[in-house]
Amino acid sequence: MDFEGKTAIVTGGARGIGRGIALELAQRGSNVIVADLDEESARSVVTEIMAGGTQSYYCETDVTQQWSTDGMAETALEKYGQLDVLVNNAGVGGAPDFNSRKVPTVEDWQATFDVNVYGIVNGTQSVENYMIERGYGKIVNIASIAGRAGRPGFASYGASKAAAINVSQAWAFKLAPHGINVNAVCPGLIWTPLWQSIAEWRKSTDDQNAGLSPRQIFQHTVAESVPLGREQTPEDVGKAVAFLASDRARSITGQALNVDGGIRMN
Ligand SMILES: NC(=O)c1ccc[n+]([C@@H]2O[C@H](COP(=O)([O-])OP(=O)(O)OC[C@H]3O[C@@H](n4cnc5c(N)ncnc54)[C@H](O)[C@@H]3O)[C@@H](O)[C@H]2O)c1
Repeated sequence: MDFEGKTAIVTGGARGIGRGIALELAQRGSNVIVADLDEESARSVVTEIMAGGTQSYYCETDVTQQWSTDGMAETALEKYGQLDVLVNNAGVGGAPDFNSRKVPTVEDWQATFDVNVYGIVNGTQSVENYMIERGYGKIVNIASIAGRAGRPGFASYGASKAAAINVSQAWAFKLAPHGINVNAVCPGLIWTPLWQSIAEWRKSTDDQNAGLSPRQIFQHTVAESVPLGREQTPEDVGKAVAFLASDRARSITGQALNVDGGIRMN
């Protein structure tokens, strides 16, 4: 078990991809802090992890606030005495109800950058001094294939994810001399509440989708765009994160790994 005795924080770990990452790290022996705003869902992930035999703790966290991510890091150290892995996974598609709008508003641009970019910066800034002092640490940021190429539509989301990749590279350079690896993972198409919102947006903005359910819109997108011909899962992303956060990936830093069935081959 690569993470026996280690401690990981997963932001946005209450559901979807974050839950998949939290469970994967726990199955490999890690204590996991589930850092999220959604207390009820986060507590159910904590219960699930503890039933599997490792330790877990819910820490109410808003990644858009530096004081809150500082508290998250302190909680991990108080509870478990060390912090080995930070996964900056929390993300949003826009401001609340973004999927009811045809084009992103200034609030959507603000929300995506607040959570998807500053959320990573805040989380990283809250742990870096500790990791530097220790000369060890693994940071994995969840970006997206949407950050690989600009597309019309919800440009704010794609732009925030391109920034997430760039921020990962900047901190990879900064922290490399201190034995800390920073990488990004770019998930492809994963059926979560976030993708359901995106499918609802596509249904209301594209007449071709009008008669389809959100799940059918998602399945059409998978069929049209994934060379491997299947949707990806939170477990797929969890496995990639576990690799990058492990010592098996000790010579890999500043990379962005697509977990997308071949949609983007860069
Ligand atoms: N689902 C996909 O196909 C897909 C594809 C590419 C990238 N991603 C990225 O993967 C990550 C997870 O996405 P998901 O599909 O599981 O989304 P989701 O909406 O299902 O889950 C997101 C989680 O983040 C939490 N969160 C939101 N704002 C927060 C904040 N300010 N502070 C703390 N927690 C906050 C939510 O409460 C929720 O638990 C996101 O960064 C997303 O952009 C998802």
